[in-house]
Amino acid sequence: MRKDIREIAETGSWSEEILSQLLSLRGEAQKELLLLGGEYLQKYRGKEVYYRGLVEFSNICTKDCYYCGIRKSNGNVERYDLSDDAIVEAARFACRNRYGSMVLQSGERDDPHFVERIDTLLQTIKKETDGKVGITLSLGEQTEETYRRWFKSGAHRYLLRIETSDESLYRQLHPDNDKHRFHKRLDCLKTIQKVGYQTGTGVMIGLPGQTLNHLAKDLLFMKDFDIDMVGMGPYIEHEETPLYQRRGELWSPEERFLTSLNMVALLRLMMPDINIAATTAMQAIDPVGREKAIQAGANVIMPNITPSNHRKDYLLYQNKPCIDEGADDCSNCLSVRLEMIGHKPGFDQWGDSPHFFSRQ
Ligand code: 5AD
Ligand code: FES
Repeated sequence: MRKDIREIAETGSWSEEILSQLLSLRGEAQKELLLLGGEYLQKYRGKEVYYRGLVEFSNICTKDCYYCGIRKSNGNVERYDLSDDAIVEAARFACRNRYGSMVLQSGERDDPHFVERIDTLLQTIKKETDGKVGITLSLGEQTEETYRRWFKSGAHRYLLRIETSDESLYRQLHPDNDKHRFHKRLDCLKTIQKVGYQTGTGVMIGLPGQTLNHLAKDLLFMKDFDIDMVGMGPYIEHEETPLYQRRGELWSPEERFLTSLNMVALLRLMMPDINIAATTAMQAIDPVGREKAIQAGANVIMPNITPSNHRKDYLLYQNKPCIDEGADDCSNCLSVRLEMIGHKPGFDQWGDSPHFFSRQ
């Protein structure tokens, strides 16, 4: 089997049918697929795993995605918004700990005050860290003007997960209104790429109503879109969301996790030079889930550097790991964990995706 996969990888002859089959591999055959993903990572990107210090600076959100714990209609969430000082301090923390880059993430907002605030913050962070820390934004759907403005002020990577590349499945996961249109999201992703950001997307794996065929199409979507970075992980149910009603349809957490590993390995084979994150959702299901993702081909981890008193309020899903730890604990345990699996931290580097430069 391994020989076949190797051949498919070398010739790039990926199809929906082949990918669906490979996504279902388990047991010995799966092990071989995952090993091959790890081998491609070593060959094309080496041993380094890059750190992105994640700052979840606010859980205030204007959207109402059916799967997300911080959706606007969830009245049980204590809403917070970090001060600018706290965010800049997190950037300094990333710098001191040699993280190389950081991600600013929050619930989605697009009011003029918010746009202006991010613009100023970007400039302050650049100044305070002597431009050393790369900045990724994960702030949802915005206008082209906003994307341009933030790019000009120093952000150079943008993450916007498409969540699923299947329009009808997308519709089942979001309310039917103008704030939650599949085509708007797709257009935003195109604009982000056009503006010049290193462009990241991703999907959730094991959603109610989702099949291996959907996931195969997601992988082809990422390849066709020429994406530079991907963050994807298992869907994890949250009691206080509408999608919880459909929990009876879910695959077991283990199945969601194993399928996620296959997604990572296959994407590494399909796009050897991109950045792929070992996501926190993988760790939520398996305590060494991120390490397993790295062994299958992921090369980015996103340690949470949000001041820990707010972590409990940013629960997109339940059982989120590391919410009790301070950022320091995370930075120590991470490098040890990486060394244990034969990798090393890519300290002080932005860790850009070579794919981005090759498509320029
Ligand atoms: N389970 C897993 N991932 C989730 N996200 C949101 N809610 C959940 C959930 N219940 C992911 C989405 C979003 C990212 C920030 O977190 O893919 O884009
Ligand atoms: Fe906030 Fe989906 S609920 S963006």
